[in-house]
Amino acid sequence: MRSPETARMRETHRRGDLVVIANRLPVHRASPESPWETSPGGLVSALMPILRENKGVWIGWAGSSETDCKTFEHDGLYNVPIYLSNEEVRDYYEGFSNSTLWPLYHDACQTPQYERRWWAPYVSINQRFAEYAANEAAPNGHVLIQDYHLQLVPGMLRELRPDVRIGFFLHIPFPPVELFAQLPWRRRLLEGMLGADVVGFQTRHGAQNFVRLVNRYTSHRGSGQAVNVNGRRVLAKEYPISIDFDRIESLANDPKIIEHAKKIRSDLGENRTIMLGVDRLDYTKGIDQRLRAVNEIFHKGNYTVDDLVLVQVSVPSRESVDEYIEVRDRIEKLVGHINGEFGTVGAVPVHYLRRSLPIEELVAYYLAADVMLVTPFRDGMNLVAKEYVASRKTETGVLVLSEFTGSAVELDRAVLVNPHDIDGMAATIETAIGMPRQEQTRRMRSLRQRVRKRTVYTWASDFTHALDAEQPRPSSATMQLPIGTNPPTS
Ligand code: F6P
Repeated sequence: MRSPETARMRETHRRGDLVVIANRLPVHRASPESPWETSPGGLVSALMPILRENKGVWIGWAGSSETDCKTFEHDGLYNVPIYLSNEEVRDYYEGFSNSTLWPLYHDACQTPQYERRWWAPYVSINQRFAEYAANEAAPNGHVLIQDYHLQLVPGMLRELRPDVRIGFFLHIPFPPVELFAQLPWRRRLLEGMLGADVVGFQTRHGAQNFVRLVNRYTSHRGSGQAVNVNGRRVLAKEYPISIDFDRIESLANDPKIIEHAKKIRSDLGENRTIMLGVDRLDYTKGIDQRLRAVNEIFHKGNYTVDDLVLVQVSVPSRESVDEYIEVRDRIEKLVGHINGEFGTVGAVPVHYLRRSLPIEELVAYYLAADVMLVTPFRDGMNLVAKEYVASRKTETGVLVLSEFTGSAVELDRAVLVNPHDIDGMAATIETAIGMPRQEQTRRMRSLRQRVRKRTVYTWASDFTHALDAEQPRPSSATMQLPIGTNPPTS
């Protein structure tokens, strides 16, 4: 039930006081006849309370099979679907977003493609999102733009609606000058982002790279966290995203989930050390290198299939992009190779699950796993690492974490690895397997404190407060945070 205070807030807020724009809507459905369901994920759960309190609107693509693009209300939120034709999906989403920007921003761990024919669709789809947002935003409202698909929207929206406050948040890494400089459209993308009042990044490095690039490739000047855009101040700062710690912890306390974890353990063998990997099936995640490191461990002979097992959960993703098909083939060959070489009748070293699992099941796996392997070549943050930590209420278990993830900045008590170094990774995983319980607890306790302290709600609150602080307006125009979401104290 809503408290009277909450009800009052809703009366004083107009639809469109807060607009979120993201490539995807926060809802999905199995077919156009099925009911809408809220999509799982940190961003959606972080923004939902604020959106509900502010009569929020979410603008996004509803998916290829959706052609009926009427606004609808679901779970207290107005959803405004954007239609994309098959050609637009190919050029704007699979092409420019996921074959140019995605590999480039992830340190070019796959060669980025600079196809001129993808640029115009990227511009026109960004314009479409900006126009929808301009229509939906209330006077002096707030618009939060998400991620690399929509980097031009802040500038386009500012042209259309100079009255609104604009926040842009990049969920993936923002690359250093040498890499970004390759982009034929570098200045346009930077100018686009500068349309925002606050440009948020996962790490301080990302924010610093942005200010350096602005100085080098635009006529605007920045220093520290601020850029001066014709007298208007743009804040460029890190806001590391996180998870709903309490929710994950309460799932980890759920007797049914604990029972499920016990069953996983006994199915895999009580005496074996269980290693776990959970990733989107993406070449940035380093799943193939991880498998090579596991292969190396078995080769060295300190452990056999009776001692050790890896469960690798790989969630299918972007399956029409060639590089994703190739990485899946590589991974599946490696799994076959390792199981063929080291498996016995009745026991395999790698269990490979290519599917998406509900969070309840994932938490059961987190509870069962002695060693969590999170080894991307590059990752904006990596919330799986934080979810594992939140699940480990017994303060045992070892997180092996790539030093190239955004989460390694906060989770520096994890066992950090360089995923490009197969021998080093194999040796580090062996150290993790043999880590004494006392040492596990020392590390896990500190990791849990870190994750508990800065949740996804802290992220949303810090980011939206920064937006209000940047351009003070009459008090009626400040965003209403839900009860329990405190302003930042520093
Ligand atoms: O990490 C970036 C991101 O775009 C996420 O926002 C999203 O959950 C994930 O990649 C998968 O993206 P897609 O929408 O391409 O399936």
